Amino acid sequence: MRAHPDPAEGKPPAFGQGTNPQAAPLPRVESRAREGAGRDEGDQEAVRARGAEVGFGERLLWSGVDLDIAGGTFTAILGPNGAGKSTLLKVFLGLQRLSSGWVEVLGSPAGEERRRIGYVPQRKSFDQTLRLRGIDVVRLGLEGPRWGVPVPGPRSRHARIAAADAVDLVGATAFAGRPVGDLSGGEQQRLVVAQALVRQPDLLLLDEPLDNLDLANQGAIARLVQRICTERGVTVVMVAHDVNPILPYLNQVVYIAAGRAVAGTPSEVITSETLSSLYGAPVEVLRASDGRLVVVGTPEPPAIHGDRHAR
Ligand SMILES: Nc1ncnc2c1ncn2[C@@H]1O[C@H](COP(=O)(O)OP(=O)(O)OP(=O)(O)O)[C@@H](O)[C@H]1O
Ligand SMILES: [Mg+2]
Repeated sequence: MRAHPDPAEGKPPAFGQGTNPQAAPLPRVESRAREGAGRDEGDQEAVRARGAEVGFGERLLWSGVDLDIAGGTFTAILGPNGAGKSTLLKVFLGLQRLSSGWVEVLGSPAGEERRRIGYVPQRKSFDQTLRLRGIDVVRLGLEGPRWGVPVPGPRSRHARIAAADAVDLVGATAFAGRPVGDLSGGEQQRLVVAQALVRQPDLLLLDEPLDNLDLANQGAIARLVQRICTERGVTVVMVAHDVNPILPYLNQVVYIAAGRAVAGTPSEVITSETLSSLYGAPVEVLRASDGRLVVVGTPEPPAIHGDRHAR
């Protein structure tokens, strides 16, 4: 990974114009995803990537990923199981190295601004026997050495106020005093988001936070995340299995499949044309009578995405 982008590099390539020489060109998606609520022209990019590639040994996961995620926006990362969505979040955190290209997060090389990032990993759930109260789980977000510099005196007045504020923001005040193991999946999910928010991050990375929630709770968490975005100016990147609960709130979508990625507004990316081109096979996007988008005909993902291309 290069330390920093070269300012003399000139105009960045358009979204989705990958650098994998073997891949068919993706359709041009020119928008810089500036539509949608809560946007101010001139906001700084929270994430920029050019020609980003991850491979594990001889195995190429994805390549040619070009991205601009503007500050204060809500972006979804979509794609089939194993496409490399969680890996992309780990790249943003500086936990996964790129094998080629570069990524800049909050104006610095990935990993340097980690204490300004809130992260909810995939499938984080609590043991039913866990007697820790919800509010204590939120406070752990201040103590955790892994995601940032520990805040002095995590049991201090400052910490109590910060935790209460985060709990209030996610609408969890009524149950934050109960043991977290006793709470429902939706209630636990709010507390997990509060834990990621307690340090007041500038960038919030959520890996499938809607997993295992019923439709009502999916909608509630989706609205909550959008509020965090618009009211607090936090940039949110959410990996999602189903785009529909968050579709009304999204500024941008990054769709990863078949070793490549395309980014743009939902209406640009979630189309038969763009997804067929990304998969390299006919894929249809249908709109159900209730307005939900349904992607049909996606090819079975290969166990391994081909070999690393020759360089
Ligand atoms: N450190 C690693 N070493 C080797 N392979 C890895 C590593 N991390 C991830 N992988 C592989 O990369 C692929 C993509 O993993 P990733 O978790 O990013 O997928 P995903 O899109 O998040 O999938 P899901 O929808 O199932 O969560 C998987 O096949 C996984 O086994
Ligand atoms: Mg994942």
